[in-house]
Order: sequence, then C-alpha cells, then structure tokens
Amino acid sequence: MNQDEIKRLLGAAAADYIDPWLQVDAYIGVGTGSTANHFIDALASVRHRFAGAVASSIASADRLRSHGITVVELNDVSYLTVYVDGADEICPEFSMIKGGGAALTREKIVASAADQFVCIADSSKWVEQLGAFPLPIEVIPMARSLVARQLVGLGGTPVLRENIKTDNGNEILDVHDLNITDPAQLEAQINQIAGVVTNGLFAKRPADVLLMDVDGVVGTQRRPVKT
Ligand code: A5P
Repeated sequence: MNQDEIKRLLGAAAADYIDPWLQVDAYIGVGTGSTANHFIDALASVRHRFAGAVASSIASADRLRSHGITVVELNDVSYLTVYVDGADEICPEFSMIKGGGAALTREKIVASAADQFVCIADSSKWVEQLGAFPLPIEVIPMARSLVARQLVGLGGTPVLRENIKTDNGNEILDVHDLNITDPAQLEAQINQIAGVVTNGLFAKRPADVLLMDVDGVVGTQRRPVKT
C-alpha cells in the first residue's frame, strides 16, 4: 500500500469511528490536508445523517460543499461533538505539530470547539519527540522579522514559507532546530510573542484519539492518561 492508500484507509476509518455521533442536528469539525480530504470524501455517503460541518480552511469547505455537505461558520454553532484532522507529527502524549498545510490557526480554533479530537495520521508521523518537522508559525506580515528574531533567541531557525498567504491573509514562518522538550510550555511561550497569530504546537489541546496504520491495518488508541 502506498501512503495515499493508507491515508484513504485512515479517512474511511475516521468516518466509521465517528458514526455513533452522527445525528440530524450534529455538526462535525473537519480538518485540512490530504488525510482530512479522504475523511471528507468518506463523509459524502453519510451526508444525510448529520446537519453539516465547520471547516478549518477554505479548501476543506470547498471540498465538503462539492460533496453536497452543508458548511456552516463556527459562529453559527454552539457545540461540535468531534473534530477530525491529520497531523505533521504526533508524539506519545498525543501532542502534535500541525500547519504543514498552512491552516493551523483555523484548525486550532475549530479543534478547541470540539468535545473530541480524532487525529488521523499515517505511521510516518509518529515521533518520540516533536520537532524534526519544522514548527509552522502564522505571523502578522508586518511583524515577521521581529518574531523571527525572537524565535532565534529560543534556539530556532525560522524560514519564511515562500509564496504562501494563509486563509487569514498572514504569513508562515517554519522554525527548524527547536528542542521541544515541553510542548505545552513552548506553545504558550511562542504565543506570547507580539505578532504571532498561532503556532503549530497542539499540546494544550492534544488529540484524544489516534487512528494510525500498523502493518497496513488501522489501529485506534486513546490518549494515555497522565499518572
Ligand atoms: C494542515 O495545515 C495541517 O495541519 C495538516 O493537518 C497536516 O499537515 C497533515 O497533512 P497531511 O494529511 O496532508 O499529511
């Protein structure tokens, strides 16, 4: 099986996993990226069994609509039972790096509105410690250099992602070389830098459930309880 076939399997498994939550008045949070796209495609056949979706990007909203799935704004719903999305890296505590597709801000917003976060990630995304994947940070364009200097002070090497504007009209710095020993602490620290909109660490709100392939079969794990 190639990686895209595995992602398709994960998207279908996520649709099965959330099936018990589908109700005619239920809204689902939907992520962004190639794995999330397969989830959207798998939702098409059950679109009559739920009210609609809140999308984490314009691209996902367009794909949902192309399948006849109703898309609503987050402001129009009070509660999301579940949010389903991919990740660029996920570690044993189920903290993640996200934002490889530049949608991190809306992903973090929609995820925070959901009761459950289901991460669909192929096994190449599993890491013992986050940080080999450069950490995406959405910045207000006028603050790019100011933010970059402070990230250098944190030991990082920020690189401006070329030719990218986020759905919010901002820019992305991809930060290499960070030593991420405490993801929640670093997430909070980077968010304190003036000009940062969001960083791609999802540690304050980690995934609750992980669907990941093992030897071509999708396994389901719940986030380990901290002792
Ligand atoms: C989008 O901004 C990201 O957070 C994606 O969820 C992440 O990059 C995973 O993407 P793929 O599913 O395409 O690997």
